[in-house]
Amino acid sequence: MSKIISGFSKLSKFEKIDWLVNTYFTNSDAAKTLIKQYWNSNEKLQQLHDEFIENTITNYYLPFGIAPNFLINNKIYTIPMAIEESSVVAAASKAAKFWYDRGGFKAEVISTEKIGQVHFMYFGDTKRLTAFFTYLKPMLYKKAKPITKNMEQRGGGILDIELRDKTQDIEGYFQLHATFETLDAMGANFINSCLEQFAKTLKDEAQGFELFSSEEKDIQVVMSILSNYVPDCLVRVEVSCAVKDLTENSDIPAREFAEKFLQAVAIAEVEPFRAVTHNKGIMNGIDAVVLATGNDFRAVEAGVHAYASKTGQYRSLTHAKIEDDIFSFWMEIPLALGTVGGLTKLHPLVKLALELLGEPSAKELMQIVAVAGLAQNFAALRSLTTTGIQEGHMKMHLMNILNQFEATAAEKNKLTEYFKSNIVTHRAVVEELEKLRQ
Ligand code: MEV
Repeated sequence: MSKIISGFSKLSKFEKIDWLVNTYFTNSDAAKTLIKQYWNSNEKLQQLHDEFIENTITNYYLPFGIAPNFLINNKIYTIPMAIEESSVVAAASKAAKFWYDRGGFKAEVISTEKIGQVHFMYFGDTKRLTAFFTYLKPMLYKKAKPITKNMEQRGGGILDIELRDKTQDIEGYFQLHATFETLDAMGANFINSCLEQFAKTLKDEAQGFELFSSEEKDIQVVMSILSNYVPDCLVRVEVSCAVKDLTENSDIPAREFAEKFLQAVAIAEVEPFRAVTHNKGIMNGIDAVVLATGNDFRAVEAGVHAYASKTGQYRSLTHAKIEDDIFSFWMEIPLALGTVGGLTKLHPLVKLALELLGEPSAKELMQIVAVAGLAQNFAALRSLTTTGIQEGHMKMHLMNILNQFEATAAEKNKLTEYFKSNIVTHRAVVEELEKLRQ
């Protein structure tokens, strides 16, 4: 069959799978995997998932795990995490317990402002554009009223709209740069709807603005879209304890561990090759909670990494210090999250995750997510500066290897026990499994 197909989206799900299997697979096992193994037997639930996107053919499972014992601002949380990487949930749980015994995490939302822009081209006189904007600004609010009314009743809405002159970067380039408060919604739909209305009002009102020449009236809107860079939607999280209490790893004295930890953070602050991996570890925790709670992890990733580069160099998101014999470890990151709208009421596991967290506000969720990131980074740096990460990592990976060789429950028990005191390598696991099977 041809690999080029038209009208694909109009085919039924069975027809789509039929085409796929006949075109790309040599036997029909693919269809069995797609349908028998991964379709949900509850038809309504399956249909719900089918309709999240176009051309759905099956479901893609990720493990949904939980990390208990998180003490955040004196409240206990069990944090849901959706992630495929072995050892992330275990590391989060370990860090949670470690800091539970030392006063827990302190978290604070610093700001909640979101941003959106209408990018447009104007090649006339800048003074006349500025005069036009003074006239335009109240009109922008007025014409967007049907969109903003409900949000305003709840205490949110448009915070400000500025005219920005970007002609030093591109000839004729200007922006309407708008800021928003979207409360418990992530706000993408709200912001984009407002921006598209601003763009329309901008074009319409320019047509009737008497001071403009006929060319000046012809403002060209390039695009209207929110920004995923939200440096003023910030949360700060921190842990601290007396240096002498950093005694978890008995092989290393507390002070030596604290100092090594600070060196590891300092390296990530100055060395981009290390900073990227360091921050990737933070995102292991953040993305897992963002995903479990139905939020947009791509938006969060883009915004967080841009923030890590705000000085012009990509740097560590976390910081650490020892002052008066107190060890402190903290992070400030931008997070645009929602606990209403989107998938929150639609996806059964997202609903469950939010209930597990006690139906948090968006601000509370910002704190929880950031804590998961800080905990993950603490766990990673603790392993890296003491035992190395492979020990813990390979222990978790053991199960993946055993599953790959279809080990029985009894074999898994025996080998898990055996590898508590032996080094896990792919080869060693296979050899031990073979010995057991002889
Ligand atoms: C692995 O997913 C994450 C780490 O590499 C993070 C780090 O190096 O800090 C362990």
